[in-house]
Amino acid sequence: MSFDDLSKELKLRKEQSLYRQRRTLQTPQQPLVQVDGREYLAFCSNDYLGLANHPDVIKSFQDAANLYGVGGGASHLVNGHSQTHHELEEALADFTGRPRALLFSTGYMANIGAVNALLNKQDAIFQDRLNHASLLDAGLLSGARFQRYLHNDADSLAKKLEKSDARRKLVVTDGVFSMDGDLADLPALSDVCKKESAWLMVDDAHGFGCLGEQGGGCAEYYAMPNQDLQVLVGTLGKGFGTAGAFVAGSEALIETLVQHARTYIYTTSMPPAVAAATLTSLRILREETWRREHLNKLIKQFRKGCEALGLALMDSPTPIQPIVIGESEKAMKISQSLENDGIFISAIRPPTVPQGSARLRVTLSASHSEAQVDRLLRSLEKVVL
Ligand SMILES: Cc1ncc(COP(=O)(O)O)c(C=O)c1O
Repeated sequence: MSFDDLSKELKLRKEQSLYRQRRTLQTPQQPLVQVDGREYLAFCSNDYLGLANHPDVIKSFQDAANLYGVGGGASHLVNGHSQTHHELEEALADFTGRPRALLFSTGYMANIGAVNALLNKQDAIFQDRLNHASLLDAGLLSGARFQRYLHNDADSLAKKLEKSDARRKLVVTDGVFSMDGDLADLPALSDVCKKESAWLMVDDAHGFGCLGEQGGGCAEYYAMPNQDLQVLVGTLGKGFGTAGAFVAGSEALIETLVQHARTYIYTTSMPPAVAAATLTSLRILREETWRREHLNKLIKQFRKGCEALGLALMDSPTPIQPIVIGESEKAMKISQSLENDGIFISAIRPPTVPQGSARLRVTLSASHSEAQVDRLLRSLEKVVL
């Protein structure tokens, strides 16, 4: 059997400007990076608080590696659950104000594991149309009746929920939408869930660290009571600057995941040193409120600058500030022109975003300076307008 078919598909992908290519980073994650041998000022990482390369986080990682070695060695239920994993779970439970938290090796796995431990064919799942791929995949894999409601539209959700007679109903949403940067209207969604006896699951991958006085994300921002947000997911590879993810919730929820979440059970635990590094980044994330203050200043500066240039942005109060270009080919060309000008922002294209809405997903970090944001604005003025 030949691979001609695949080659034809790949050629078509190139012709449609949808071909993905990996770029090689030769420096740590920071504003000034070297990519494929060239220096750039980057505005596309999810290291929102500048913790991925923080000296204290690195030191904790190194110390723990000296103590525990590198590999987790086994799954959590065999003998891969170290004291450090356990401490991090307790710290995350305290941070989110929930009885328990459970670590997963990635956010993708946390979403697949949680949804599939809770639902089967007798159930129904309701998802925002713009949810992250890992949530959509989780729903499809579960076999539950799968429905998508209009973006951030509690009425659209209510209409679908009313018609459902499923055993369990799970409503799932990004907290901060990963490609648009807007916030889910959690109070409105939660009201509908209460009326229709549905559970609410929020994946706040992009909210933790950025929103709320202590960086507690959407739940803290909206002061959501615990009982109104039953399944809370956070990822550690973004604002926390490390790797992995967690689900926080009630004793019964977390114990159900320990017993049934296949992406928790059938995989090696994350390296303990990553858990140790995350304990330190969690402390910095909570305590160093200046990082969020500086980040919010940069967000305002960027939005004001774009407005002055006549560049349309989305309704986003978060570090995710996309500039929608439209066609993929055009987005690729603009991204390339920015590169030629020393700015690194990769173009995001379908199917990651809807057809005709390819974009520059500009992201800001507390490690950027105001002068660097000015430099970005000058470059956008030259290249996009
Ligand atoms: C909303 C959302 N959920 C989950 C994930 C997956 O997390 P991870 O990178 O830890 O697999 C991402 C992005 O990576 C995301 O944007």
